[in-house]
Amino acid sequence: MFKLTAIFAIVLPLLHLAAGQSAEWAQCGGIGWTGPATCVAGTTCTEFSAYYSQCVPGEASTPATPTSTVVPPGTTSTATGSAPTGLSSIPASTLFQITDFGTNPTNVGMFVYKPTKVASTPPLIVASHFCQGTAQEYFEGSTFAQLAETYGYVVLFPSSPNPGTCWDVSSNATLTHDGGSDSLGIASAARFAISNWGVDPDRVFAVGTSSGAMMTSVLAGAYPDVFKAGVVDSGVAFGCFALPDDPPDSWNSQCATGELILTGQEWAQRVYSAYPGFTGEYPKMQVWHGTIDTTLYPQNFYEEIKQWTTIFDYPSTPISNVSESYLPQGYSNSTFGPRFQAILAQNVGHTVPLFEQQYLEFFGIA
Ligand SMILES: *[C@@H]1O[C@H](CO)[C@@H](O)[C@H](O)[C@H]1NC(C)=O
Ligand SMILES: *[C@@H]1O[C@H](CO)[C@@H](O)[C@H](O)[C@H]1NC(C)=O
Ligand SMILES: *[C@@H]1O[C@H](CO)[C@@H](O)[C@H](O)[C@H]1NC(C)=O
Repeated sequence: MFKLTAIFAIVLPLLHLAAGQSAEWAQCGGIGWTGPATCVAGTTCTEFSAYYSQCVPGEASTPATPTSTVVPPGTTSTATGSAPTGLSSIPASTLFQITDFGTNPTNVGMFVYKPTKVASTPPLIVASHFCQGTAQEYFEGSTFAQLAETYGYVVLFPSSPNPGTCWDVSSNATLTHDGGSDSLGIASAARFAISNWGVDPDRVFAVGTSSGAMMTSVLAGAYPDVFKAGVVDSGVAFGCFALPDDPPDSWNSQCATGELILTGQEWAQRVYSAYPGFTGEYPKMQVWHGTIDTTLYPQNFYEEIKQWTTIFDYPSTPISNVSESYLPQGYSNSTFGPRFQAILAQNVGHTVPLFEQQYLEFFGIA
């Protein structure tokens, strides 16, 4: 066994070279990426986040980040033992851990980022990390905190309590309104923010990447009373990971590989069953997916479309499907109605890089 490992250690880097170079706009690096790390001539491997680099035409450049505010990296305060009951008791411009914010059956970790200048009746964004990630990493690897300094919203960064730090998006409890597990802990923190921090209940939003994207779908479907919009970056439809007879936080490979194909009505029914008493409007949704995602296969993009167009009673084909000047070449933005958009990214794997400014526009913050 030891010898085999040693051989693999030598052979793998060679395979890497043998695999060639990534094409223009293709992935060239990031956590979990095993493909080529170099790009074809005329393009530069550009890091968008810790988990995604892409071959961008031309000289090395980095995606635009606001430069007006410097967020001290990794400044994490320790918990005070309870959730501060007023925003004023939360330190500004630091990632601050809170506890005792309400029902939290699985002990989800919870961190808040309050900008220096908070808008009056501020919006709230819940930003959920990917597997192997933490609240701290998503905070550092995204610009949600920096942009909060510009727009004055408050951010909650939950941290998964599960081994491997995926979110429980498979148990009956997590998929049921007030049923328990990770989703209830996150919803409790959002409710706490509404009740105690003066957050605008009409502007509570969820966003997440990969496992955090799947959690965002769960929050949208099971807590539509709390969340008014969601952005799902490389996730799956609500309930796609459901494995009610398995332990919480199980991996549903049928869903992941895009083999769970349902009708729009069946997908919508999974949402309705999560909260049968709900009579309000479901959150606006924006979903993003890469066409060469081999972690959560791109079929999941089309299953998400079936689910949300059925819920909103929109046509199953987009009313417009266009490229956008501010998105990389090969991205198409399909609009099905005012409450649902789906962005497909050609030659992008797992995950689509973050486009925080576009998410804020979708939320009506920017
Ligand atoms: C799912 O959870 C809800 C709430 O805890 C419970 O009422 C329901 O019976 C459960 N359903 C199944 C199939 O376990
Ligand atoms: C939008 O157009 C692209 C091709 O430009 C296509 O690959 C994609 O499937 C379309 N999106 C939808 C949702 O139909
Ligand atoms: C997609 O198109 C809609 C309709 O034009 C627009 O409102 C929205 O901002 C676009 N989304 C993205 C991410 O470009």
